Amino acid sequence: MKISVIGSGYVGLVTATCFADLGHQVVCMDNQEDKIEKINKGLTPIYEENLDELIKKNISKGSLNFSLVNGDIIEKSEAVFIAVGTPMDANGNTDLEILKTCIKDIKVHLEKGIEKVLVIKSTVPVGTCDEIKLMFNNDKQTKVDIVSNPEFLREGSAIQDFMCPDRIVIGSDNQKSIKILKNIYNKLADLGYKIIYTNTKSAELAKYAANSFLAMKVSFINEISDLCETTGADIDEVKNIIGSDKRIGEKFLQPGPGYGGSCFPKDLSSLVNLAKSNDNRIEIVEQVIASNDYRKSKLANRITSKLNQGRVSNITILGVSFKAGTDDIRDSPAIQIIKKLIRDDIKLVVHDPMALANFNESYPNIKTISSLLKAIEGADILVVLTEWPEFANISLSRLSELMRGNKIFDFRNIFSKDVMIKNGFDYECLGR
Ligand SMILES: NC(=O)c1ccc[n+]([C@@H]2O[C@H](COP(=O)([O-])OP(=O)(O)OC[C@H]3O[C@@H](n4cnc5c(N)ncnc54)[C@H](O)[C@@H]3O)[C@@H](O)[C@H]2O)c1
Repeated sequence: MKISVIGSGYVGLVTATCFADLGHQVVCMDNQEDKIEKINKGLTPIYEENLDELIKKNISKGSLNFSLVNGDIIEKSEAVFIAVGTPMDANGNTDLEILKTCIKDIKVHLEKGIEKVLVIKSTVPVGTCDEIKLMFNNDKQTKVDIVSNPEFLREGSAIQDFMCPDRIVIGSDNQKSIKILKNIYNKLADLGYKIIYTNTKSAELAKYAANSFLAMKVSFINEISDLCETTGADIDEVKNIIGSDKRIGEKFLQPGPGYGGSCFPKDLSSLVNLAKSNDNRIEIVEQVIASNDYRKSKLANRITSKLNQGRVSNITILGVSFKAGTDDIRDSPAIQIIKKLIRDDIKLVVHDPMALANFNESYPNIKTISSLLKAIEGADILVVLTEWPEFANISLSRLSELMRGNKIFDFRNIFSKDVMIKNGFDYECLGR
């Protein structure tokens, strides 16, 4: 089928590439000329495992192309997926300006009497699909239908998540549109992946509810981990016991520096505001947001409280992406902790295997070092903030040779506590 995807970011690029790999004829579009130029030169603008290879494979097969937003391509597509950003505005609501501008940009190509399915992949508040439909309804010639198809992929395992989804959600009550979406996802359905059909509102709300629930698990385990530290219990044992309960599940029970990224913070805030504007309160999510904010200050204070009075400390930060496997630093807990560590008695150096380009662009005044070993050299204190596997694989003897001090804050629990202590490190981790 002929598909176009508008927005060539983390979701759009993966969606377009995976659809092409599933046998469709796909054009992925963006309004940023430099981004499209870069991709057409063979340079993938984001880091996501296997994405680069899969893009190249499908470009050479002729099933994947990239273009600036183009009316002819939109007119010829059987479905147009929208995957533009829906960031948070200053009041904590979802800012739909980018999405609405995108719809206005393409509207002229959709109002020619041709039937067209517009599929909203971006995360949008309940009622947005209806609102978008109204943008077209004034013109009697228009036969545009709006479907909600929220995306649940995770950065770091995006291709795997897209190709082997826990479920695909199709929100629509239009049988023609449902048939088109069914055909698009046909191969995945044949492989046994579940498609859930619902209305647009339930699809829209389910995405926010899912992200809020996952964030709640993260904050819950972080608080239990703190309790382990003050009671002498061990978080690894506790999470194993509670995670073995199928009603709870083992995922998202890893203590860390708090959730971050481009989705959870904005989506939780949007859900809280949506509830308020519907005369409801979703206090549990309000508390999750507060708990997550507090977590970052608490961990930063844990570091500063251990500094040598009257002496400048060299601190090396390992990891700035919001999680391993991505170069995305948007709302990364590492950044918020780093910001709290900027003061006169701290000399800070930051290393990350993939995210330094993004970090340097946003924080040009903070020193970064691209070599892991060079970044560690001379450190009094090492702080692990992202769980990149290469950090856990550092030789401990080399680590101790390179560091000036021996203090390690492992806020991702990547090392074994016993081994670190045996090797002479003054080691602090979470909940053990
Ligand atoms: N990143 C994730 O892990 C993830 C997962 C699930 C859902 N989502 C949701 O998917 C949506 C996209 O997220 P993302 O992380 O891919 O965003 P992103 O910022 O990485 O990508 C958005 C892209 O859209 C482009 N764009 C903006 N306006 C445009 C226009 N008018 N025409 C064409 N292109 C335009 C931008 O240039 C950018 O390349 C958001 O709603 C997000 O909440 C994200």
